[in-house]
Amino acid sequence: MPSQIVTEDLKKIEEGIRGKYKQVAKSPEGQFKYPTGKKGLETLNYDRTVIENLPDAVASSYCGVGNPFSATNINEGDQVLDVGCGAGVDAIIASMMTGPTGHVVGIDIVPEMIGTAESNLKMTDRKNVAFQKTSGEDLPFPETTFDIVISNGVINLIPDKERALSEIFRVLKPGGRLAAADQAASGGIQKDLKARLSNWFQ
Ligand SMILES: C[S@@+](CC[C@H](N)C(=O)[O-])C[C@H]1O[C@@H](n2cnc3c(N)ncnc32)[C@H](O)[C@@H]1O
Repeated sequence: MPSQIVTEDLKKIEEGIRGKYKQVAKSPEGQFKYPTGKKGLETLNYDRTVIENLPDAVASSYCGVGNPFSATNINEGDQVLDVGCGAGVDAIIASMMTGPTGHVVGIDIVPEMIGTAESNLKMTDRKNVAFQKTSGEDLPFPETTFDIVISNGVINLIPDKERALSEIFRVLKPGGRLAAADQAASGGIQKDLKARLSNWFQ
């Protein structure tokens, strides 16, 4: 855990994330400084055929910051974990790539997001995806379970990044891959932790 973050601040971060993403689960529109929904998928160069194959209601709930599929190939039969799956758009897309012989699990800490992901899944014909409410800091899977871990705009939200990454590498098979899209601060970081906390999930 980053040494300056005390328990009281951790509670504030978690409450803030739950509050924000409870709203995002209804609709991401107007909640972020970057394009979301179908426009977001197009801006981030997701495969055009993939976008066309998504029901509009599913595409409209997308709020990723990047395109994890530009970082690696997902192969037929792969076992995939999506850490911080949100509305499940990336998990559903990954399941199109693994085909029926592969399987995708999406996890998220916000129950409303899992609810939206499950409704989205019902709007598709995908049978090889499951969603589960749990934290990226404490993955409930045995070691060497997954071929690929994807993540999109999540690690920046997790206070204990070292622990989250060590959990990811624990559940990856030998030779497995992490494809993460994320936000990182560049230049000077605000020294005042209180100010940083207020910007954590804006
Ligand atoms: C940018 S969204 C993910 C977008 C998603 N990939 C999509 O397809 O639309 C970030 C997600 O990370 C989740 N999150 C934040 N902290 C988390 C944690 N500690 N463990 C798991 N998920 C977390 C949030 O609840 C939110 O749903």
